[in-house]
Amino acid sequence: LDDPTSDPFELAADAAADIARLTGVDRHDIALTLGSGWGKAADLIGETTATIPATEVTGFSKPALAGHVGSLRSILTPTGRRVLVIGARTHYYEGHGVRRVVHSVRTAAATGARTMVLTNGAGGIKAGWKPGQPVLISDHINLTGDSPLEGATFIDLTDLYSVRLRDLARRIDPTLDEGVYCQFRGPQYETPAEVRMAKTIGGSIVGMSTALEAIAARQAGMEILGFSLITNMAAGIQTTPLSHHEVIEAGREAEPVISALLARVIGEL
Ligand code: 6GU
Repeated sequence: LDDPTSDPFELAADAAADIARLTGVDRHDIALTLGSGWGKAADLIGETTATIPATEVTGFSKPALAGHVGSLRSILTPTGRRVLVIGARTHYYEGHGVRRVVHSVRTAAATGARTMVLTNGAGGIKAGWKPGQPVLISDHINLTGDSPLEGATFIDLTDLYSVRLRDLARRIDPTLDEGVYCQFRGPQYETPAEVRMAKTIGGSIVGMSTALEAIAARQAGMEILGFSLITNMAAGIQTTPLSHHEVIEAGREAEPVISALLARVIGEL
């Protein structure tokens, strides 16, 4: 993936072949990327038929961070659907390039998945939101200055986050609010001024993932559902300093409730 002459879609096809071989499952229907706070959902979706270390799959790099599990799981739902659970997200801030960031999405598409569920832990901007609250992503603003698309690939991003799937999620939890996700490069949290900028340009969630992945998923023709767990309010919105520990703790506390919600949504896809 670091070699500019390599074809990222060929590597994704190789990765999908590795997954088929290691899981014994030829085709997956749905892919789910687990962000911080969402991990328990995997246990509630169905029966895990295989768990494989991401390091055994072509193009997947070692995960850096505590709270980010570096494995892939194949789950069989009660209705017979195959879910590929990606617990090995590569973040843009790791600096390995956008090809590595979206490799799991392209791999998921190559396994046959037509639905991409992206989850994350993020900062909240909108007044009234509380840490521990899950929200739907309605749209995004990509502030990385980068793109997974190479060359003149002019794709449309209207309704990038599926209206149909957001409606479906709200039928399960009518209290779900939604917001526009701003992907910053990170890894530092935003300054209060950057958070004011995000708010001014129409953002309500700030984070360090998801937008680049959603672009790659749209390019692959997948239907996309995005969820953020508000782990904390963004800088300047909350008066106390942000800490990674606080983010992880909020994720841990909210995990049972939001994981149950996510599992119910997956069950309806
Ligand atoms: Cl406030 N910002 C970003 N970029 N990511 C976060 C966050 C804030 N809180 C959790 N993740």
